[in-house]
Formats: sequence, C-alpha cells, structure tokens
Amino acid sequence: MSSVTEFQQSLEQTQKEARREIEQADQLEALNQLRIKYLGRKGVITSLLRSLKDLPPEDRPALGKTSNQLKDEIEQIFTKKTEELGAVRREKREFFDHTLPGRRQWQGRLHPVTLVGEKIIRIFYGMGFEVAKGPDVETDYYNFSALNFPPDHPARDMQDTFYIEGDLLLRTHTSPVQVRVFERRKPPVRIIAPGRCYRNEAINARSFCTFYQIEGFYVDTDVTFADLKGVLSAFVWELFGKDVSLRFRASFFPFTEPSAEVDISCVICRGQGCRVCKHTGWLEILGAGMIDPEVFKAVGYDPEVYSGYAFGMGIERIAMLKYRIDDIRLFYENDLKFLRQF
Ligand code: DAH
Repeated sequence: MSSVTEFQQSLEQTQKEARREIEQADQLEALNQLRIKYLGRKGVITSLLRSLKDLPPEDRPALGKTSNQLKDEIEQIFTKKTEELGAVRREKREFFDHTLPGRRQWQGRLHPVTLVGEKIIRIFYGMGFEVAKGPDVETDYYNFSALNFPPDHPARDMQDTFYIEGDLLLRTHTSPVQVRVFERRKPPVRIIAPGRCYRNEAINARSFCTFYQIEGFYVDTDVTFADLKGVLSAFVWELFGKDVSLRFRASFFPFTEPSAEVDISCVICRGQGCRVCKHTGWLEILGAGMIDPEVFKAVGYDPEVYSGYAFGMGIERIAMLKYRIDDIRLFYENDLKFLRQF
C-alpha cells in the first residue's frame, strides 16, 4: 500500500472520528480537550498536514487541498458545538430553581472580649465615667516608676515584661493611663481606660501573653474607700445580677494604699463550692485601692487636697465567667466555631 493511500485513509478516518467525538461532547471542557487533540500544535490534523511533505510531489496539491478542507470543516464543527454548549450552560444558569435551599449569608459579629468590654464600659459610663486610652508601647516611667514600683520590683523582671529597646516596653497593665491622664488634667477626673496588655508569661489555660484590661479611677477632693465599694458593688450587680455578693480582701499594689482584691461569690455554683472557684465559693475579679500619695506626687497633684480610688480588671477573666469559658487561649485562636457562638 502506497503512502498516498495510507494518507487518504488517515484523512477519512480522522474526519469520521472527529465528527463523532465532537458530536458526543456534552461539556465545554471536554470539547476543549478535543480541540487540542485534533487542532492543537501536536494535534492529529496538524500532524497530518505536516506529513504532507513526505508524499510524492505530484500528489501533494490534491491531498493538501483535501487536508485543508478537512481542517476547515472540523474548525467549523467546533465553533458550532461551542456555541451550542455555551447556550445550554447559559440557559441552565438562568433557570431559577426555587426548590434549591437558600445560600446562607454569613454575618460578622463582635468578639466576646469586645462584647464584654463594651458592656463594662457602658455600665461605668452610666455612672459618670469617661473613656480614656493610652499607648500599648509604654516607657518604664509610665508603666512602673510613676506608679511607685521600686527599681527592683519583680514585675520589672525580664520574665514578665516584654522590653523593646532602651526605655520602651509593652505595657503590662492599663494603670499607666492613670498617670497620662493626671498629667494632662486637674481633678475631678472620673475615667475608665480599656486597653491591651502584654506579659511574657508561661501560656496556659489561665494566662496568655496578651490580654485586655479595664482600668478605672476617680480623683476628687473627698473620695473615700466607701465610694470605691459603692461603685464596684453597683458594677458587679449590674453585670452579674443582684444576688451576687462581693468581698474586699486586703492586698498590695505599689500604686494604691490601702489595696484590695475584690472577690464575687461564685457565679457557677452560687457560693456552694465547685471546680471553678476551687471549692472556696469565691472568684477574684479585680484589684483596687486608694491611689497612693506617691503617684499623686509624681504627677503634681497635692495629696493633702486630693484623694482617689483606682481599680483594674481583666476583660477575658470576666468574659470567661460570664460565658463559662474555661481556657483563655480560646480568645486568641480565631476559631470560627468558637467565635460564632457569641
Ligand atoms: N494594674 C494591676 C494589674 O495589672 C491591676 C490593678 C490593681 C489596677 C489595683 C488598679 C488597682 O487600678 O487599684 O495587676
């Protein structure tokens, strides 16, 4: 059999197969694969045309013409089929199937720390406090010295504080906002200061390297510990309910004298004793006290004229009690399964 006959047979077979395959294609993607198979750079028809040059010169014109006709025909079938399949697809998409379930719209929501923080601020706002803020990057002076921390106080230790360089550090609490406000304003000042804090502590279910605090303070001419008790009681009852009791325990902070830690009766077991309150019936929720005269001296307030109270609490801790969350790390893992619950 001459190569001319073989060539003709290939042409005919290619024509038959291509027509059949294109006709059977029912997806645009499959059709595209076929286009590559037949008309691509290494495609069947392309190769046939290329092999013309191996035929005897006298046969080339006629066979070349037939080959080009085949190529044109196949191209036309492709174009037609592409339009058909495209139309089918458009039609399908435009068809409105009212039996399909609706597509759910995800709604953003506030982080539990934001929710609880805003709730706390709102309660104090209702008692006449204004909001103030300070920087996350503080100096040793505002974070420690002006707050009467002695130079060798353990809180300054590298273990607890993230030092940046020189005098700069990440604030370990929101108490420095007291100093910044006192420097700018004269009493009376009644402030609530929310903000992020940082501590280089071992991470576990109870403590994390970053967390939020809310600081509160009030300075005027006749502020007493009784005022502090009144404001904190009103706050706790508003947040946790009237049936919760408070307990002020003597404590120590460099920037308050006297100092106290405030416990509330366990909101989980109502004071009966459980795992959360370690069977004491009480939960510590904040530190507080009367602002130390040393702090007033540092900012130029006369301690003979003014007195004031201050308190500070961790927002995550309060959120954990309110929402019964037993691991602080959950607040920082950005797990949507956790966050969508609030
Ligand atoms: N700054 C303290 C801390 O981070 C909390 C605190 C205690 C704040 C007593 C106060 C206070 O204003 O009076 O542990």
